[in-house]
Amino acid sequence: MIGKDINKAINLLQQGEVIGLPTETVYGLAANALDPDTVSRIFSIKQRPSFDPLIVHVSSFEHIFLYTEDFPEPLLKLAEAFMPGPLTLLLKKKSIIPDIVTSALAHVAIRIPNHETTLSVLKALDFPLAAPSANPFGYISPTTAQHVEAQLGNKIPYILDGGPCNIGIESTIVGMENDVVTIYRKGGLSISNIEKVVGKVKVKTTSSSHPAAPGMLLSHYAPKASVIIGEASDVNISGYNLDKIGCIRFMEKSPIVPSKNQIVLSETGNYKEAAKNLFAALRLLDTLNLDLIIAELLPEEDLGIAINDRLKRAAGV
Ligand code: TXA
Ligand code: MG
Repeated sequence: MIGKDINKAINLLQQGEVIGLPTETVYGLAANALDPDTVSRIFSIKQRPSFDPLIVHVSSFEHIFLYTEDFPEPLLKLAEAFMPGPLTLLLKKKSIIPDIVTSALAHVAIRIPNHETTLSVLKALDFPLAAPSANPFGYISPTTAQHVEAQLGNKIPYILDGGPCNIGIESTIVGMENDVVTIYRKGGLSISNIEKVVGKVKVKTTSSSHPAAPGMLLSHYAPKASVIIGEASDVNISGYNLDKIGCIRFMEKSPIVPSKNQIVLSETGNYKEAAKNLFAALRLLDTLNLDLIIAELLPEEDLGIAINDRLKRAAGV
């Protein structure tokens, strides 16, 4: 059930329920992060493997200090610059954070979401919220309450509706590796903005076997149709019925594929707008029962980097 009743959401969370919750990046599947039984239900609802740890959501810096220790200087600078916002930090966890949340890793992923509704929910609770994106494991992340309802509606008692997500792609995950600031997932905070604050960073986001962050798994964000990266004019489409081919493109439609099967992410070439539209576009194309989706990569800069990452993973390349 979708609704806007903040108190209902708070009550359900206090009773140990798992609910859908908006953030500025994507919707989360949220529950009490300090209660291992509740957290285990998040894993089963999402059909998520237990080796894939969860992000913990809090409302303020003080709460980060409550649940973590050893805040490295560069990460503190990033926190000051970009929290609340689409930034998740990997920090050494205190023992109060149960092992199930971090898949027994020593670090916990923690962030302050920049969403009024969810901040008020967090402030009313005396525990933090563990929340992965509210999609079945491996599928496209949800950016509206309706997306959550469509796939998980029968498994959770409530989805708090905070409108469409402003950022539209998941948070950027940042930690330290050998004293070097390291990006583990490209996301809604661009690498260029991060580098303005801490200088050159290391980017480490692909792993096929045992990923530190399974946003890193190659096949992720996968729609039902096959996805190919490229230009419609370059892709060999001879084996396909033209009516069953769709496109996802940055600024303008391709003349080759039927217009009704195409989605343009931002006519004005605005990266923020493109990011905000990306997952809804993939979901919409997925409802058209296409055989093939041809995805055009954006210029590899700004949020184009994170958008391209999602498109490539949707294509499994
Ligand atoms: O924007 C977001 O981050 C959204 C909203 C709901 O906050 N959440 C989200 O969660 O994208 P999820 O579970 O779909 O992705 C979290 C990623 C996973 O790839 C996970 O492996 C990584 O964060 N992660 C979580 N804890 C980690 C840890 N302790 N060390 C390394 N990676 C971690
Ligand atoms: Mg996810």
